[in-house]
Amino acid sequence: MKMACCTLAESFENSASVTVGYADATTGARQIPLLESGKVRKVGVSNHNIKEIRRANEILGEAGFKVSAVQNHFSLLYRSSEKGGVLDYCKENGIQFWAYMVLEQSALSGKYNELNPLPSGSDRGQKYNPILGQLTALTDAMKEIGTRYGLTCSQVGIAWALSKGTMPIIGATKERHVLEAAQVMDTVLTSEEITRLEALADATGIDTRGDWEHTME
Ligand SMILES: NC(=O)c1ccc[n+]([C@@H]2O[C@H](COP(=O)([O-])OP(=O)(O)OC[C@H]3O[C@@H](n4cnc5c(N)ncnc54)[C@H](OP(=O)(O)O)[C@@H]3O)[C@@H](O)[C@H]2O)c1
Repeated sequence: MKMACCTLAESFENSASVTVGYADATTGARQIPLLESGKVRKVGVSNHNIKEIRRANEILGEAGFKVSAVQNHFSLLYRSSEKGGVLDYCKENGIQFWAYMVLEQSALSGKYNELNPLPSGSDRGQKYNPILGQLTALTDAMKEIGTRYGLTCSQVGIAWALSKGTMPIIGATKERHVLEAAQVMDTVLTSEEITRLEALADATGIDTRGDWEHTME
């Protein structure tokens, strides 16, 4: 896989201003001198399955380092990393799993529907507008569960990702998105709620894998 994200400055594991480089196994190797110099403190990989994460760990391990984080697409509609064992592998090996596109670029925010579609002409409109009708049962359930906790549909999607032990990376476009994401931290969905949401997501039959990704299974 090619590099999907460039180097990010992130606050990580309570450290201030730590750099996490996202790379593939090969470019990860090129980060070793930067790790050794201390310019890069941690390395993560993106859009990687277990085999690829292991390979990256082998390369880094030879120099005394390890993969610190994996950043993969993970949402109610796209659980490939869970099904393919990446989540378990990360937990077992002390690797943080950063979930991107948790809200499927807002298709799971509850804001958009067939009558109020995503902006036409946008990439996300092109991808999700044809399937918005198939998402109604799922987003309705997210809204209903949200009323039990005083949360929005989006916040339930974020709470679900947190319940899986992931760190959701939410694409905030408004100040309130940041505040809403922070509010979710203490919410614990019940196993019945999680099962119901996942069953409704599966029932859509939708695969939202991006054309830059390969399956994690
Ligand atoms: N590594 C990779 O290959 C890769 C690939 C894709 C994305 N990413 C990263 O993942 C992150 C998230 O991706 P993303 O922004 O595409 O997808 P996302 O987080 O699923 O969706 C973001 C959209 O959801 C809506 N939203 C966010 N918070 C909300 C809230 N609290 N309430 C209601 N709506 C809310 C906003 O839409 P509106 O503006 O319409 O309200 C926003 O544009 C980004 O940092 C991106 O760089 C990484």
